[in-house]
Amino acid sequence: MENRVKDYHFKHFREKGWVNIDLDLDDKYVDEVYFSLKQMRENAISKKYKFGRVYYDHLLDFNLAAIELPFNNNICTDIVRNFFQKAQIGSILNNFLDWKSPVNVLSRLFCMGNYNYRGQWHRDTENTEKMFKYGNEGKIKIDTIQVGIYSENQFGFRILKKDYEVGRKKTILKSKLDSQNIGNIGIPINPLNESYDMVGGTKGSILLFDPNIFHQGSTAGSRFDFHMRFADGKDEKYFKNDFQDFNVVQHLKSDFTDNFPDSISIIKRQSHKLRLINTFNYLFPIYNIYRMLKDSQNIKKISGFGRPDILSNTLYQKTLD
Ligand SMILES: [Fe+2]
Repeated sequence: MENRVKDYHFKHFREKGWVNIDLDLDDKYVDEVYFSLKQMRENAISKKYKFGRVYYDHLLDFNLAAIELPFNNNICTDIVRNFFQKAQIGSILNNFLDWKSPVNVLSRLFCMGNYNYRGQWHRDTENTEKMFKYGNEGKIKIDTIQVGIYSENQFGFRILKKDYEVGRKKTILKSKLDSQNIGNIGIPINPLNESYDMVGGTKGSILLFDPNIFHQGSTAGSRFDFHMRFADGKDEKYFKNDFQDFNVVQHLKSDFTDNFPDSISIIKRQSHKLRLINTFNYLFPIYNIYRMLKDSQNIKKISGFGRPDILSNTLYQKTLD
């Protein structure tokens, strides 16, 4: 019987398109998991693990931002496997969503070093017609869902509030195209504080959110949170790891070794020139000003949404304006 999913979780999700659910795990145990995730990052660097992402690399510090395929036997620890066994995330999804069986199609461990980070606003999927249409009662109707797992108190995103979304009463997006144009701008955009929620999770909780809603990755300092995407597996045949209570696509199986899809990015340090720029810009945001000036025409076009975030990805990045 799943008793972690409550009525107010459904209500919250229907209103906002996201919700936090506590995993009901001991705080001390979650601390152990946190340290094991740290260990995974150290191992990924020292043992040259192949799959991951680098966003803002630094001159004298390898700033590995994410580990891809985190359940793979080449990187996953016993503690993390045990964590999935205890967390029973499939059970939460089965009780929350109107699906036959959830299948995990993407899994990533975000593990940015001790830097402020902000990405650009975007949608992971472009089905804006389906936003906030989750059915009036019962389990949530949705095509895909994003799941964040938090081992420490951490904000991970800004997510646009319903009223400010395209076609709604306070919208700051003139048309569907606006969101795509914003996605192509070379510097993060800062909308009004009241237009978005800051979301993430508390230690030992998960975040469920609709990836159709306009959102922006935004973190302060280091982070260790899983980022996973699920879809309804319906009755099709999928794969399974014995430490998880949900199905996975083939390349997320812990013992999968060959023919990884091209979409899984390979860890590669950035060029020395770019690293020098990132390190310098972190303290003296001159490169941010250059990026803003370079894109000023496009920035003007979306001025109803917000202004360029000159202090993003620097020591001076603000949580709110
Ligand atoms: Fe996203």
